[in-house]
Amino acid sequence: MRSDPTPRSRPAWLADAILYQIYPQSFADSDGDGIGDLNGITERLGHLSWLGVNTIWINPCFASPFRDAGYDVSDYLSIAPRYGTADDLARLVETARHHGIRVLLDLVAGHTSDEHPWFTASANDPSDHRYIWADTDEPPRGFVPSPGGRNGAYLPNFFPTQPALNFGYARMAPSEPWRQPVDADGPRANRAALREIMDHWLRLGIAGFRVDMASSLVKDDPGFRETSLLWKELRAWLDRAHPDAVLLSEWGDPAVSVPAGFHGDFFLHFGGDGDGLALRSLWNNHGGIDMEHWKAVDCFFDAEGKGSPRPFVQAWLEAMETIGDAGHIALPTSNHDFSRLGCGPRTPEELPAAFALLLTWPTLPAIYYGDEIGMRYVPGLPDKEGSVIGFAGPDYNRAGSRTPMQWDSGPNAGFSTAPADRLYLPIDPDPSRPTVEGQRADPGSLLNLVRRLIALRASSPELGAGAEVRILHDGFPFTYVRGDRYLVVINPRRRAAAFKPARKPGRGAIGTGRLVEGRGVTLTGDGVEAEGFSYAIVDLDG
Ligand code: GLC
Repeated sequence: MRSDPTPRSRPAWLADAILYQIYPQSFADSDGDGIGDLNGITERLGHLSWLGVNTIWINPCFASPFRDAGYDVSDYLSIAPRYGTADDLARLVETARHHGIRVLLDLVAGHTSDEHPWFTASANDPSDHRYIWADTDEPPRGFVPSPGGRNGAYLPNFFPTQPALNFGYARMAPSEPWRQPVDADGPRANRAALREIMDHWLRLGIAGFRVDMASSLVKDDPGFRETSLLWKELRAWLDRAHPDAVLLSEWGDPAVSVPAGFHGDFFLHFGGDGDGLALRSLWNNHGGIDMEHWKAVDCFFDAEGKGSPRPFVQAWLEAMETIGDAGHIALPTSNHDFSRLGCGPRTPEELPAAFALLLTWPTLPAIYYGDEIGMRYVPGLPDKEGSVIGFAGPDYNRAGSRTPMQWDSGPNAGFSTAPADRLYLPIDPDPSRPTVEGQRADPGSLLNLVRRLIALRASSPELGAGAEVRILHDGFPFTYVRGDRYLVVINPRRRAAAFKPARKPGRGAIGTGRLVEGRGVTLTGDGVEAEGFSYAIVDLDG
């Protein structure tokens, strides 16, 4: 595991990817059991193709007891019956291909369910080292007592029902005799298992994986040195066996994950200095979910204008500088672990500017299902399949971001034909909740704006992931130029804002141009004036 293989594959299509995340439980229910499924996704590919997204990633859809909504896998090689079959996945992949859409699955690499046969065997066989077992009378701190005939305790990776797979420790410690080196038999078997799982699904035609908790594999690993070597080894194997396969990490530090072999990293979930500061400083996806109240964080997308784009921009530019063109940083609107863009006091009129930023930024933009119509974080829901993360706070409930997609004004918002009380989670009870049907019919809707912004991005190399960004003003209004062609102005606060560059900037900075998309922004010749909640994309060549 010591090799540092280069070069590695760089699938060209990824630079143009517009990602769309599907939480399969809640997207579309084709068989009326109240839970979304693969055939439901296939039936709705038309919406995604109309919207213009070209890559979907689906949260884990494998066999599972669902103590953590499927992030507790009990068989990596079979589809959970509630979602359908491997044939359904093959049909989904094939239909998606016809729509020009690639499919990424979710690889839960660091742990299994405690109901996985590997674990039940391990819990009864003291000679098995696929998991991390401490053979002590008292469980060491953080360990969970053995549920089987084996004595001792195992190390969980997230919830106690998610035992950590043993990828070894980066260093030994006499006080912890259970530590094994990364090249011990258990870690080798687990690395081989990851190859087998990836190979299995890649052969079916998927484009790659989002990798769950990718940094968590090797324990006590300062600087993630051994974890990085592990991923490089897997990447080298992929380069030979499946050179087009893409790996995107849930890591939060592109400066480490990209050199480790990932093509991109979902940075803002918990990236940047401090506890997810970069994420929270942009649109505060943490705020609405924690305690189910809007937690005051001075984020940029705050109506009162308390925040600033600066922490986000600085973290971003630093990360970009470190990785160069070796990989990408994915910017999500939100995801299944954090509150949606529409949460807390944020109103629908604040959302267009957020999408204007997302879709003109040098990133892999990732839209969480439903954010394109402004679905909100629904407060007050019960704990569903481990949605409440007790150790993150008693009211940290992810369920509010996982409610069914709102398709139309019919029963269950068109999500399912099941009785309402059998749905995976209730539909947002707000009578004025947005729907795809309603917004498709309205040219002024968020959905139609998102569609136009995607089309603009897709047809303008200057707006792509790899094109240059020149920041003109990292205050209000946030102002930047992409690829020397598009001037972007974003004012997410209620109060108006104006900006005049101190010195006359060069060509393509602020002059006149053609307004491609926007509202409430005026170019004054030597600066910009932006009303509250305004945004503009101006073609300076126009
Ligand atoms: C990741 C997933 C989250 C899950 C956890 C444990 O953070 O996004 O949903 O609970 O890993 O697998």
